[in-house]
Amino acid sequence: MRIPGSEEKQGLYADAELKIRGLIAGEPDRIARMAGIVAVLHGLMPHYFWTGFYRVSGGSLVIGPYQGTQGCARIGWGRGVCGTAWATGQSQVVPDVHAFPGHIACDSRSESEIVVPVRDARGAIVAVFDVDSECPAAFDEVDRGALERIFRDWGEC
Ligand code: SME
Repeated sequence: MRIPGSEEKQGLYADAELKIRGLIAGEPDRIARMAGIVAVLHGLMPHYFWTGFYRVSGGSLVIGPYQGTQGCARIGWGRGVCGTAWATGQSQVVPDVHAFPGHIACDSRSESEIVVPVRDARGAIVAVFDVDSECPAAFDEVDRGALERIFRDWGEC
């Protein structure tokens, strides 16, 4: 696992965005879009260790499509990095998960994390997109900008 430099990251996200635009075009099923997005990003990004969605369901975040080692099934509102992104509506970029109060360790190899809220067309949060890395400080403003752009227009209608 390695962290790409800024320029390489931007190129990889540009490639990922093109692939994602293609796969979500005309696909009305939200889970199918989520599964495709995970496959594209997890396959392309050398710094991604765990990549997936937690869906808002019955008052909790419930695990959705993902790739990587076994994830925790449910996360409560405001709990961990994912629950914080859900409760605040803000992306969370965490350079050191051990320093994040309440971080939920699904796999002890995770060192850094990014979580981006995912909204429907009306602006309601329907999921969060979560990525963990085995490298400390793997995620920065390039990751946040690219992922927020992808989820601003991810096929919700
Ligand atoms: N670390 C997350 C939990 C999900 S796993 O990373 C797959 C958190 O603190 O919310």
